[in-house]
Amino acid sequence: MSHQARKILVTSALPYANGPIHIGHMVEYIQTDIWVRFQKMRGNECYYVCADDTHGTAIMLRAEQEGITPEALIERVHGEHLQDFSDFHIGFDHYHSTHSKENKELSELIYKRQRDAGHIATRTIKQAFDAEKQMFLPDRYIKGECPRCSADDQYGDNCEKCGATYGSFELKNPVSVVSGTVPIKKESVHYFFKLGDYQAMLSEWIAGTTVPQVERDILGCPQSSVAPTLQPEISNKLREWVDDELRDWDISRDAPYFGFEIPDAPGKYFYVWLDAPIGYISSFKSFCETQPDLDFDDYWGCDSEAELYHFIGKDIINFHALFWPAMLQGAGFRQPTAIFAHGFLTVNGQKMSKSRGTFIAAKTYLDHLNPEYLRYYFAAKLGSGIEDIDLNLEDFTQRVNSDLVGKVVNIASRCAGFITKRFDGNLGHSLDSMLYETFVNRGIEVIGECFEKREYSKAIREIMELADQANQYIADKAPWVVAKQEGGETELHEICTTGLNLFRLLILFLKPVLPQTARQTEHFLNISELQWRDLETPLLAHKINKYKPLMTRVEKEKIDQMIEDSKQKSVVSMTTGPLIDDPISPEITFDDFARVDLRIAKIIKAEHVDGARKLLQLTLDLGGEKRNVFAGIKSAYAPEDLVGKLTVMVANLVPRKMRFGLSEGMVLAAGPGGKDLWVLHPDSGAEPGMRVK
Ligand code: MSP
Ligand code: ZN
Repeated sequence: MSHQARKILVTSALPYANGPIHIGHMVEYIQTDIWVRFQKMRGNECYYVCADDTHGTAIMLRAEQEGITPEALIERVHGEHLQDFSDFHIGFDHYHSTHSKENKELSELIYKRQRDAGHIATRTIKQAFDAEKQMFLPDRYIKGECPRCSADDQYGDNCEKCGATYGSFELKNPVSVVSGTVPIKKESVHYFFKLGDYQAMLSEWIAGTTVPQVERDILGCPQSSVAPTLQPEISNKLREWVDDELRDWDISRDAPYFGFEIPDAPGKYFYVWLDAPIGYISSFKSFCETQPDLDFDDYWGCDSEAELYHFIGKDIINFHALFWPAMLQGAGFRQPTAIFAHGFLTVNGQKMSKSRGTFIAAKTYLDHLNPEYLRYYFAAKLGSGIEDIDLNLEDFTQRVNSDLVGKVVNIASRCAGFITKRFDGNLGHSLDSMLYETFVNRGIEVIGECFEKREYSKAIREIMELADQANQYIADKAPWVVAKQEGGETELHEICTTGLNLFRLLILFLKPVLPQTARQTEHFLNISELQWRDLETPLLAHKINKYKPLMTRVEKEKIDQMIEDSKQKSVVSMTTGPLIDDPISPEITFDDFARVDLRIAKIIKAEHVDGARKLLQLTLDLGGEKRNVFAGIKSAYAPEDLVGKLTVMVANLVPRKMRFGLSEGMVLAAGPGGKDLWVLHPDSGAEPGMRVK
């Protein structure tokens, strides 16, 4: 198994700094981290860099809402992101920010090289403008009625109801989400990257052949020796784009904008997607400054022989496979060896949803569950393609419990006790070498290959098949029986030594997926950090430490709590803030308001509702008339705290049939939800039935 060490640089997409990491993101960081850990275990020189993506309108507005500067916001989020990543054992070699001096310099450099070579054009365009906020509005910040199906509350670029795509000017009754005013049309000069200039180069890049001679001569750069290999789904899509006309790409945004100002263009800023991928280079550059032996040009220079891989989600393929190679090529940098796209995460077969509690923040997950469960589950599901992957929470529980706890860890716990008690912690001199060899061969021939090709689900299937064999071996040999037989010492020693050696191989194979369990196992077996090449040498006549349980079962209650927590946290939008996700409704007249009849009501009975998680059933006295009302206030009040108190209710609401009965009115509540929800009216001499002013 001798192979030359490869030089590999790996990136994951840079997460936006306007919100927390969620488990959908984690698909990507876990997928990448497994691959990087595998490469490092193989003895390759592999680096994994990433950064926060900090620029753009969303971050600017979010900071404004919080009443802080964008700089303060991105600094705080940087800390939160890093914490989540390290808690999930994501082993970045460096985690930087796109709002950094390296990124500013490199963005300017790349832009200037493109500009000086004639690949930048300027044109006046018309755009939606918020006259009150004095800012141009990205499509996401305009809402209105769909021009095709008239569904209301649709974004400025496409309709979620009927799927139509359109320009924001086509939207009927458009409103700026930022100020609530009607946007106007305004002209402004924009800067464009002439992607069409790279048609030939992109065609070649997609085909995986070398770049034409002409292109090379201009830059004086030979092509990297490794031809890119693209996933078929990506190359097909790219083919379509490239064979069609490649339109100019708008790379500028007008002030106010949080980003880098374009050189020689006051008031114009680089569009966030221009400087974001450059963050890959800047992060590595900043890393190099701390690593005296690392040469930046070895990895990014146009004649670099290192491999460069970008792991991304399928939603951002165009930025990475179209604009990015062209930007790099024109500016004299090397191109990616390949781009690895993955699909999207669904939970229980559906899009992650805040109201269902399946929009789960990384932090919320970590409050309840072991990160390695999710690493394992994703690995068991991930292939090399771009299909979506589903986290089915029942399957998750069952899978982790039966595979990791039931099959793998079980092997160690069945053998370790005998070694400690009967052999003073020493492994024997011999083992079942046939079985051991089977494991070694499968590791070399199949499992390693699967990791390399990002076919993790296949790797896991293979590993679990081996775990079955190991368990079968132990069941057949029944060490607990042998232990009681006279003269069974030698045999017992060999059985347990074999069992623990098979366990060690399983953990070696799983180490990229379960780094924490691997570390604990290294301590238990009293060995140095497991490398891939260690698989050929069994552990014999070696003293091990006392076994401590390595992993516990997933408990269903923890999952339920996690879902419940995620629902609570969704009351206030996490990514954009309440006003942007949930803008103020259209104005109502005073007469509209006056039609709502608000009355003081006395709570004369309050009870739990069978099967309802949030509701209490209230009997209200309106001063002569009784009403039955279901109110979602269980998180804030116990029934006995309510009886005899006053509240305010909407008395003239049409009765509504609910799952638990008829609700005849509505109780008014204030507060963000959860425990902080107030429904009681101060007992200030008010009488049931009194009108509220
Ligand atoms: N900031 C850009 C990337 C810039 S790269 C130069 C971005 N950020 S993101 O925070 O929205 O997403 C980061 C990565 O996570 C992307 O690759 C995206 O595809 C991935 N995912 C985000 N949500 C996801 C799921 N629900 N499922 C799987 N991957 C997801 O895009
Ligand atoms: Zn529509």
